[in-house]
Order: sequence, then structure tokens, then C-alpha cells
Amino acid sequence: MEDTKEILNWYIAAGVDALCAETTQNFLQPKESALHDKEEPVLQQTNFRPATTLLAQTPDSAYINAQDICAKAQTLDDLRALMESFEGCSLKFSANSTVFGYGNPKAEVMIIGEAPGADEDRIGEPFVGRSGHLLDKILQAVGLNRDDCYITNVLPWRPPGNRTPTDSEVAVCLPFLHRQIELVNPKIILLLGGSAAKALLNTGDSISQLRGRVVEWTSANGKVFPTLSSYHPAYLLRTPAQKGKVWGDMLRLAQKLAEI
Ligand code: URA
Repeated sequence: MEDTKEILNWYIAAGVDALCAETTQNFLQPKESALHDKEEPVLQQTNFRPATTLLAQTPDSAYINAQDICAKAQTLDDLRALMESFEGCSLKFSANSTVFGYGNPKAEVMIIGEAPGADEDRIGEPFVGRSGHLLDKILQAVGLNRDDCYITNVLPWRPPGNRTPTDSEVAVCLPFLHRQIELVNPKIILLLGGSAAKALLNTGDSISQLRGRVVEWTSANGKVFPTLSSYHPAYLLRTPAQKGKVWGDMLRLAQKLAEI
């Protein structure tokens, strides 16, 4: 028992926090036939998910493919189905779920985070873990709730161990985010955290520089969407002293919404 605990702790320390399958598999075990025929040992066939695809290894093609398929989506349901069959991002193969947007498909407020965490990956819905619970309270403070809003992430797949997504992973997934914005057509977008703000606004400004001002994002079809940025709830959980600033950001959001 102690040995098992020690091994699990060793895995956790090495950053392993998810299993690929329910049962263990000896990848080095030669095939039965190979043992008898004295053939070169061959790795056993497995039914494991692929680690990647050719498309995912060519981000430029993957981006073009994502753009093409997103343009075909006329509804959020279309887009969800296309995202679920998209094979241009390797993150999909290590994740358990494709975490599509949640909430009111005609929401006035769209909220965008960075990427699913472990809870979101398990449940298949954005912002349902600790950060999500704090987000619910933040929304409540200005009379909103998660069902009124449309909540999504830049990336629909959890990066292993919650690592920061690479620029190319973000770029390949952006067409899906852009199309969600076009289809929901919100009055205002709230960007949570520097990664979401950087991805959508393509800016080098930090979240502290972006907070407190409306920055417009223009879609490919020329529609202008006002955005406001604020700290990510995960950052607030680590740095509760900043909660007052987010309260101010939310009041600004409510005021802007009332003006539009
Ligand atoms: N953090 C995010 O950015 N998104 C989620 O869905 C959960 C945590």
C-alpha cells in the first residue's frame, strides 16, 4: 500500500495528473507469435488514442482547415459537431472532453477564459471547478448568472497538467472562438485573464493595462464587439486582495451593458 502511494506521489511530482486508460498496458511486451517465430519483437497493437495527427503537426494547414469548417457552421450545434470532429490540435488527444461553450446561445454577455482545467475536462463544461464557482459569485454580484451568459474558452481542450497553451495551439483554435462570437452575437465580451485577452485582441498589453477600458474586436464579417478585460478567477483565488478591482470591472460591465 505504502509502495503504491509512493509511486502515485512520484507520478504527481512528475506532473502526471490524468490516466489514458483504465487498465495498464505493457507496451514492451512482444507479440506471442513473435516469441515463437523468433521474429523481431513487435509492439503490441493497442486501442489507445493517437497522440497526434498529421494535420495537428502542420499548424498552418490545421488553421486553414479550422477556418474552412468554421465558416460552414450556421448554428452553435453545427459548430460543436465540427469541433468534435476536428483533428488539427494535438490537445484533443490528451483531453477527456471537448469543452464547448455553455449557456444562453443569444446571450448579451459572452465570457471567455483560457482553457478547461481538470474539472471542466472531466465534466465537459467550462468554468465548473473552483474558478467557475468564484465566477458564479462574481456574476451574481451584478445580477447575472451563468445561464444568462454564454461562457467559453479560447481552447476547447485541456492542456496536459494545465500548462500554458502554445501560440500555435491558440492560433489553430481561434477560428472556433471567432465563429462562436459571430453566432452568439453578444452585446459585450468579458475576457478573463491575460491569455484570453491576448488571444482575442492580439495585443501585447498585460491584463493590468487592459482592465478598465473598452477595447473593440472586429469579426471577419466586419461586426464590432466591445470587450472588457478582468482578472481570471484562478488568479483571484491565489490573490484575493485583487477582488475589489474585479468588483469595479463588473460594475463597468453592467454600466456598459445598460448603455448599449
Ligand atoms: N479556467 C479557464 O480559463 N476556463 C475554464 O473553463 C476553467 C478554468
